[in-house]
Amino acid sequence: MPQRHTPQSKTTHADTPNKTRRAKADDSTVTFTITVNGRAQTLSLDPRTTLLDALREHLHLTGTKKGCDHGQCGACTVHVNGRRVNSCLCFAAACDGDTVTTIEGIGEVEALHPLQAAFVECDGYQCGYCTAGQLMSAVALVDEPIGPSDDDVREAMSGNLCRCGAYQNIVGAIQAVRANKPSSK
Ligand code: FES
Ligand code: FES
Repeated sequence: MPQRHTPQSKTTHADTPNKTRRAKADDSTVTFTITVNGRAQTLSLDPRTTLLDALREHLHLTGTKKGCDHGQCGACTVHVNGRRVNSCLCFAAACDGDTVTTIEGIGEVEALHPLQAAFVECDGYQCGYCTAGQLMSAVALVDEPIGPSDDDVREAMSGNLCRCGAYQNIVGAIQAVRANKPSSK
């Protein structure tokens, strides 16, 4: 039976140290600022609010999806300071001062990110519910020290589940982009 695990590159911010938590706005909220898709956003929320709920319910960025809400499916994947994280496992207030990128921040209809274009080209989705998370993981993956094989990609993407079973085409899309990526050497 395959092991389910979260890739090492994913981190939670629930216990991120060295954050300057601002004074509570009142007895039940905490005020903090995060930069989301290049725009500074100051929020006053219950300190238990997850980054996922802050994005969806308070900033109305609904491209990031809630699947399990328990760190098991990867549908909620976003980037925090350039690293992919499960936003359902992060407290929003713990991201004070951080830079967050969501699916709305990587491309537009008229100017798709190369991975978005590759997912379209390779049929890397069916219902699309997992696709935002798959794409955010894939965008981070291409800059991670991942081995060259399809199995390496599968391992690195193992935290992102697809109930439609589009895995083969997702790997194909990622490998197509990796093959065209200019060498950093
Ligand atoms: S909703 Fe976050 S991992 Fe499933
Ligand atoms: S495309 Fe339907 S869950 Fe992945």
